[in-house]
Amino acid sequence: MTNHILIKNKLNNFDKKIQVSADKSISIRSVLLASQAVGTSKISNLLESEDVLHSLRVIKKLGINYTKVGKSYYIKGYGLNGFNIKNKTVLNAGNSGTLARLILGLLVKSNSKIKLVGDKSLSKRDFSRVIKPLRLFGVNIESKNNLLPLQIQGTDFLRPIKYDENIGSAQVKTCIIFSALNTPGITQINSKISRNHTELFLKFLKYPIKVIKKSGNEKILVEGLQQFNSFEYEVPGDISSASFFIVLTLLSKNSKIVIEKVNVNKSRIGIISILNMMGAEIRLKKKTIYNGEEIADIHVKSKKNFNAINCPSKLNSSAIDEFLIIFLVAAKANGVSKFHDLGEMNKKESKRLDLAIKFLKLIGIKVDRYQNDISIHGNPDLTLTNKFEMKNFLKDHRIFFLCCIAALTLGGKWKINDKDSINTSFPDFLKTLRMIGAKIN
Ligand code: S3P
Repeated sequence: MTNHILIKNKLNNFDKKIQVSADKSISIRSVLLASQAVGTSKISNLLESEDVLHSLRVIKKLGINYTKVGKSYYIKGYGLNGFNIKNKTVLNAGNSGTLARLILGLLVKSNSKIKLVGDKSLSKRDFSRVIKPLRLFGVNIESKNNLLPLQIQGTDFLRPIKYDENIGSAQVKTCIIFSALNTPGITQINSKISRNHTELFLKFLKYPIKVIKKSGNEKILVEGLQQFNSFEYEVPGDISSASFFIVLTLLSKNSKIVIEKVNVNKSRIGIISILNMMGAEIRLKKKTIYNGEEIADIHVKSKKNFNAINCPSKLNSSAIDEFLIIFLVAAKANGVSKFHDLGEMNKKESKRLDLAIKFLKLIGIKVDRYQNDISIHGNPDLTLTNKFEMKNFLKDHRIFFLCCIAALTLGGKWKINDKDSINTSFPDFLKTLRMIGAKIN
């Protein structure tokens, strides 16, 4: 069966209201936390994408049962470390760095040896960032070159740690917080700011976690060994999935979109600040707070001119998954846009900084690079007519989405490979595009 799509037409003149897929970060956290709660949790609007389905399969292998009734998932937990682990268990995290890093934090007390594996992309990603703190807790980890597959064996003699998390990685921060749940005493993390869904979720569960804000940093204190009860949670829409429709609308002619019920947590909406600084007029309406998370409808309309930006690197962590699509706006901006210190982009599902540069050059945009800083020479008149194909992107879902939006807004005749990659985070991506009017073969 073919696993590519063809796009040959631009998309203009739409006025639609849509919903995007549920938030991936929150979906994975809700599944993992339900596995540690006492009793049966009910999760609605859970993202049914490969990363989340792998999370469900992983907890099942660890002895946690779940069922789906109607549109809700029911997960029965037995409290902290309530797993029932068989000998020689192998956990497969698929493509998901989040699942792989987070589950390790929940295995710190398990006495059996557990092997963690992933797909080709995940097997290239560095795990030293979590191996280091896990070993400080007293956990035994074996891995060749800090890559998957790795083997973890927990201990009954965990000790709380004080850790400086300097990357600004929510995956690392959450792995440490999850480890702290099973560890006696108080674990302290001095963390560079990153998405804070775990902290908000634990507060919603009334777990004793304290966050003290300092400038650019947070001190997080987690008290270990406190049980929490099962919960009900409805997962909001994912700003990372919404971002492709935001840019589609901005760069299309005479178009408008409302994206309903999206999580607009401050630690996630760097893209909105950046695009508004470039001249977009993206508005958040019907704001509400749901279990600590901010939800809103996102209103976007087409825009003819964009300013170049010198993007403040303090926005990097809140837009880390969105830079690929932000670069497409920079490619159409008036002037040279500068982005700094984006090395973390190369630590994702593929080497996204390298691939972004390759992509921009492919569509005729000049890019200068100095280490992990890039300058994008925008061309407001950019339109494409040639044939295009992006190859070897390790089935990275976000590179696939980027190519689709480029094809629909800039033109050209595109063959886009690895259609299945959409299942990682947004299985309805193509369906949603078609619903707006895109012609995709
Ligand atoms: C995620 C955190 C981010 C992000 C990833 C999801 C999470 O990674 O890129 O897609 O759910 O915690 P880092 O925390 O490693 O930056």
